[in-house]
Amino acid sequence: MNVGLLGIGTVGGAFYKLALEQENINVKTLLSRRERPGLECRVTPDINDIINDPEIDCVVEVLGGLHPAYEYISAALKAGKSVVTANKAVVCEYYDEFLDLAKSSGAAFRCTAAAGGGIPWLESLSRISQLDEIDSIEGILNGTTNFILSAMTNSGADYAESLKEAQRLGYAEADPTADVEGFDAMRKVVISANVAFGVSIPKEDVPCFGISTCSSEDIKAFRDAGKVCKLIGHASKKDGKISACVEPMLFDKGSATAGTEGGYNIITLKAKRVMTQSFTGLGAGGDPTGANVLADCISIANGAKGFYTDKAVRSSVDNSVLKQNYYVRTSAEIPFEITGEMGSGAITGKESVSDMHAFASKVRKDGGSIFIAAIGE
Ligand code: HSE
Repeated sequence: MNVGLLGIGTVGGAFYKLALEQENINVKTLLSRRERPGLECRVTPDINDIINDPEIDCVVEVLGGLHPAYEYISAALKAGKSVVTANKAVVCEYYDEFLDLAKSSGAAFRCTAAAGGGIPWLESLSRISQLDEIDSIEGILNGTTNFILSAMTNSGADYAESLKEAQRLGYAEADPTADVEGFDAMRKVVISANVAFGVSIPKEDVPCFGISTCSSEDIKAFRDAGKVCKLIGHASKKDGKISACVEPMLFDKGSATAGTEGGYNIITLKAKRVMTQSFTGLGAGGDPTGANVLADCISIANGAKGFYTDKAVRSSVDNSVLKQNYYVRTSAEIPFEITGEMGSGAITGKESVSDMHAFASKVRKDGGSIFIAAIGE
């Protein structure tokens, strides 16, 4: 299968190297503004050299960001080419449109590396969603924040130093705000929920609270209480209502999620027949992510068609039903029942995700300081 590769950064570079070892996958042309001496493929700065090349069967987009990735993916699908992407931002934003384009052109569209890095999570989720009813998906979906929280927990490392190291390892986004504020995990939750439940939820409906205000005092208080803090993405469906959010959550030391460290992700699905299944592996980094992109190409070369699902019912998110206890450390007055304390934070009674996130947003808007963490069961 001839591939047109868009981008040769961390993921694209790893994909290119791994593809050289595959007999059936040939990177014919690379889109790059710069000349790339030493590469075996043709290099062009003009996307039309790829879209209009009848010998190119599949376009691999690893540019990241919304534009021009959106225009290039659309053009490739319209031209009847298959598309593989690791770009969660563009898939999350244009989910319905890409599904429609793939449906009408009959081309294959895959984005397994867009959620879970090197883990075949979306592929597995889609297999299960075809034979079972999925109740929830939940887990660590961002390698950068997991790396930072693990370093802060294990060696008392400083937040800023740990972020720099995550950038050096190729885990963090170009602008790491998306990682540390939870937007990257939110995009992965949206894509996963869409595939799991056959819906299309607006990303604006999914509240996010990240780890940028987590202090070493918070981490110490959690450690003293036998807890470990993780940034968690969650989506569930109950009585036809979908809940979804991204927030820090505390787990008992010794649990599988607490023991998932560094750049690793762990994602657990719960379904009516297969019950509970967890998937774990490196969630970021060039080689694991590039390998997952290559795995999508191999599936397509072997005849995979369409998207994981062709169902995308427009649905909204209702977080009023999901209730949990929270750790809250804030400069503001807490308007909820307080049932205890942990370090300099308060423990609240069960509060809905919507009420807690609305409170946290208001505190931030008013210029106050706040860190929250749900307390896992
Ligand atoms: N910045 C992302 C992360 C890369 O840290 O998980 C993989 O999607």
